[in-house]
Amino acid sequence: MSSSDFYSSLASQLEGLLSGERDWLANTANASALLFMELPDINWAGFYFLHGDELRVGPFQGKPACTRIPVGAGVCGTAVATGESQLVEDVHEFPGHIACDAVSASEVVIPLYNGDQCLGVLDVDSPSKSRFTREDLAGLQSFARVLLAQSDLPTG
Ligand code: SME
Repeated sequence: MSSSDFYSSLASQLEGLLSGERDWLANTANASALLFMELPDINWAGFYFLHGDELRVGPFQGKPACTRIPVGAGVCGTAVATGESQLVEDVHEFPGHIACDAVSASEVVIPLYNGDQCLGVLDVDSPSKSRFTREDLAGLQSFARVLLAQSDLPTG
């Protein structure tokens, strides 16, 4: 299956899973479970929510993770500070990377917005270097768009 077929099927699965439910916490919980079940070669998938100037861990699947990350720190905090998705081929080369699990080798982080308000990030980690391509990033950005469109979003 091509990457674009894989991610369109994943987005359809998410649409089905979330249909009839708009609760943000419930939907992020099920979205993390779907990612963890369907994405091969990953060891963590989940959310950090923005509270003031720090991220706090939200629903996720994988090993227990760092609870709080200041904006600007690590890959997640950099995504929020810059407003840009981060595609990190080798986390050991990323200055300030926060190692919640020593096994993690590559990572993709997508900031989530309600209009211009940042809500937090979607974070996916892999034990393999260069696990995520530009196609994975685009597919996960589409996944995040479905999640945001089908949920009632926090307003701050
Ligand atoms: N590696 C992340 C921290 C979160 S964990 O990967 C779950 C970072 O550097 O922001």
